[in-house]
Amino acid sequence: MTTPSAFPPAGLRKLLAAVTRRTGLHYYTDKTDLLEEMVGARMRLHGCRTCHDYLAVLADKGMGDAEWRELESAITIGETFFFRYAEQFAALEHTIVPGLIRAAATTRHLRVWSIGCSNGAEPYSIAILLARLLEKAGMNPREWHIEILGTDISTRAIEQARLAEFSAWTLRDIDPARRAAWFTAVSPRVWRLHERYRRMVSFRYSNILDLLQPDGGPAGPFDLVLCRNVLIYFAQAQATALVRAIAGRLAPRGWLLLGHSEPVTDFSPWLETVRLPGTLAFRAGMAGKGPVAPVAARAMPPRRHSPRANVPMAGADSAAVATAIRRMADDGHVPRAMQMCRDHLASHPVDARIHFLFAVLAWGEGSLLQAEESFRRVIYLCRDHIMARCYLARLLEDAGACAEARRTRQQMVALARRCPPGAALPDGDGLTAGGLLRLARHMDEALPGEHARVSS
Ligand SMILES: C[S@@+](CC[C@H](N)C(=O)[O-])C[C@H]1O[C@@H](n2cnc3c(N)ncnc32)[C@H](O)[C@@H]1O
Repeated sequence: MTTPSAFPPAGLRKLLAAVTRRTGLHYYTDKTDLLEEMVGARMRLHGCRTCHDYLAVLADKGMGDAEWRELESAITIGETFFFRYAEQFAALEHTIVPGLIRAAATTRHLRVWSIGCSNGAEPYSIAILLARLLEKAGMNPREWHIEILGTDISTRAIEQARLAEFSAWTLRDIDPARRAAWFTAVSPRVWRLHERYRRMVSFRYSNILDLLQPDGGPAGPFDLVLCRNVLIYFAQAQATALVRAIAGRLAPRGWLLLGHSEPVTDFSPWLETVRLPGTLAFRAGMAGKGPVAPVAARAMPPRRHSPRANVPMAGADSAAVATAIRRMADDGHVPRAMQMCRDHLASHPVDARIHFLFAVLAWGEGSLLQAEESFRRVIYLCRDHIMARCYLARLLEDAGACAEARRTRQQMVALARRCPPGAALPDGDGLTAGGLLRLARHMDEALPGEHARVSS
């Protein structure tokens, strides 16, 4: 496990405070070593020897703002792909968007906002879906006034989004026929989204924290807001305040979609929680802004897991939760075990152990993308997690992403070598570091030409 620096030097602490204040990325609070690593390149570029020197650059009237933009691009994590979270896109396709189209039949005007849009895969997925559903309903998307806004704090991500060129990796959930219908190949591994979808979306730099200022951030009302996998890096209280601010920018009966593991659990009385197959969505009341009617609050699902599952949730020890989930899965109730993971993660979004368990279960169920995403999350939360790298490498290999699989396995081997050979690996079901290295060598022998990748 990464050992967080318990007492980082004063300069680093100051830098951390400045970064958290500016971006909301509370995530770095116990990962100052990671922050230091990421800021290092910027510091070297400016010839700064200490964090104090770099803070002075950030505070400089002339270049401070530009440097903040660079730093924001460097420290944010933009992992995304088209049609991410199949269940949410099914809910959008079958319930949310058809309802919005019906409600806007007279005005023919819809406003969508993707907050933390990264390279644009999310808002462009919405553009493709909206165009498709309008056409299916016999309408011409060109006769509608569709505004899809993508915002992000990373200027680098915004530039990529405007370019609308994507790698096979970002398009991994789109089958070749649809890829050919929606994109034009600009090189063997890069595709450009068609102009008809590109023009539906505009992008701009915006810090979500601006929403906490009076009249800050893009003005509503929006019929649909997506803020997925952004708040997961924020402190719970700030994330809750932001959800409330977003609720204030929703149109009457407008929708909000969050990621599966956001740290927000309290939406009442601002938003109604709506259970849709495989996912939750949140909805404004008839008045748009402000508390929803009490009847909507009654539609809230129980926040804790049902007693049937018999899992301690509030302040629960993660090991005890993991044991209960494993028992449930061992009894053959895998979907229920996965739901227990989701429930736990809703209130403990940075519990790497449960993310890992969820990833393994998802893999077993054939949900490869979910599994991959969760293994990545484990590594993100816990950079020294050897077993997550072990599984991820295998998944990537199966998916044909050989270069990344090779890198991941090399990292796995390097980490395992740092452990005493007899040390049991966390989440390894008794597998020791030495045992894993032997297995890795065995795979080397089984796969000619692979030797370099695990023994380097
Ligand atoms: C993991 S990506 C999520 C992308 C997309 N929403 C999805 O779920 O696939 C998180 C994005 O949030 C952005 N972000 C982080 N902090 C932000 C802030 N304070 N304001 C706006 N965007 C932010 C990052 O730059 C990054 O592009």
